[in-house]
Amino acid sequence: YFGTIVHSLSQTELEIVEAAVGVDSEGTIVFVEHNTAADEAAKKHGWAEGEYSVVAPVDQATSFFFPGFVDTHIHASQYPNVGLFGKTTLLDWLNTYTFPLESSFKDPAVAKSIYSRVIARTLGHGTSTAAYYATVHVEGTSILADLALEAGQRAFIGRCCMDANSPDYYCDESLEAAQDATRAVIAHVRKIDPAFETVSPILTPRFAISCSRELMAWLGQVAAEEHLPVQTHISENKLEIETTLKLHPYADSYAGVYDTFGLLTNRTILAHAVHLSDDERDLVAKRGCGVAHCPASNSALTSGETRVKWLLDAGVKVGLGTDVSGGFTPSILHTARQALLVSRHLAMKGEETHKLSIDEVLYLSTLGGAEVCGLDSKVGNFVVGKKWDAQLVALDNKNSPVDIFDWERGKHEDLVAKWLFNGDDRNLTKFWINGRLVAGTEF
Ligand code: GUN
Ligand code: FE
Repeated sequence: YFGTIVHSLSQTELEIVEAAVGVDSEGTIVFVEHNTAADEAAKKHGWAEGEYSVVAPVDQATSFFFPGFVDTHIHASQYPNVGLFGKTTLLDWLNTYTFPLESSFKDPAVAKSIYSRVIARTLGHGTSTAAYYATVHVEGTSILADLALEAGQRAFIGRCCMDANSPDYYCDESLEAAQDATRAVIAHVRKIDPAFETVSPILTPRFAISCSRELMAWLGQVAAEEHLPVQTHISENKLEIETTLKLHPYADSYAGVYDTFGLLTNRTILAHAVHLSDDERDLVAKRGCGVAHCPASNSALTSGETRVKWLLDAGVKVGLGTDVSGGFTPSILHTARQALLVSRHLAMKGEETHKLSIDEVLYLSTLGGAEVCGLDSKVGNFVVGKKWDAQLVALDNKNSPVDIFDWERGKHEDLVAKWLFNGDDRNLTKFWINGRLVAGTEF
């Protein structure tokens, strides 16, 4: 692959450089040579002529390679509801819009049709890795795993655990039923992708309100014994926090509830974390959990503004989540834009230190998300040994929503800013995951 690469080296360093990237037949990056012609780089690494082909953008001056996006929090089953939330807030939104829709996934045909669309749409927007919530249903959730594997998307597949305080028409019937269903989905995912090469199971207590103490304790134990990742929601909405603390009076905080049951691990993804106290933040940092920042959802459901800088400064890993359909967009590019704006709202209300830069939100959307998912040794940027999860972004292509002026050609730093604010899936011409071409307007 030859062209301009744009990728994060760290939270604050976005590298933009012309490079030849060598990728082997397994999709692994074997060399990255800066400012070197493709054939010269290949020769240097002992690749014989005729044994490789060069992929380069048609218009180098307005195109670049960018790592695949990581969506650290998305409810695949809620996709048909994007945009539908009215003036609700979290708990009445769940009862009015969300639980009725999720219950329809009892029908495997519904699961198949909606999950296919979600995967096609998120791939179209450049999501190479998604931490998915499905529903309570074993068959439907297994279908999501099958479809992700087939489409080539990296995916964590979470069957929602909810055996308490949930509607009669949509819940686990008992603790045992929740355990059996959880086991069944893990077994299915292990069967179809034994090495967890692209698809992995993830333990998914929906949130503390909807899980019995016994279920959370069991999930914590399974997470420890089988080294499985965990995802859940935390401290999204004030009424949710109040309800949680009433149901769990022994705990001194929301994070304390999860910690009691061993659910705060270095493989735990906590969605939202809007209203954490200083002590909770420190506990989350100490346990090594990651936070899925969901700015579109937090704005739409008026949940609040997550203090991303305040989390990062304490050493908490942070990535971005669309939180479809609390969030209305399946695009991580749009979510990065919103993360930037929400940080500016915090800055306007308080301190300038909350403000996130373009480089920082692009880090959150890729390498930061990979860290949250425990995949940073595998994906997140273009480093030797990692996998080729890459978007070929073209800004001056047919149907581009971005207008490029002559003087901007070749100024990739400015082009990246234009892409962040005005670009969309029409700019994603080719998209590879694990070295396999999976989507894009030229797919
Ligand atoms: N808390 C519990 N369930 C949900 C959900 O589906 N979406 C969001 N945003 N928060 C939740
Ligand atoms: Fe959510």
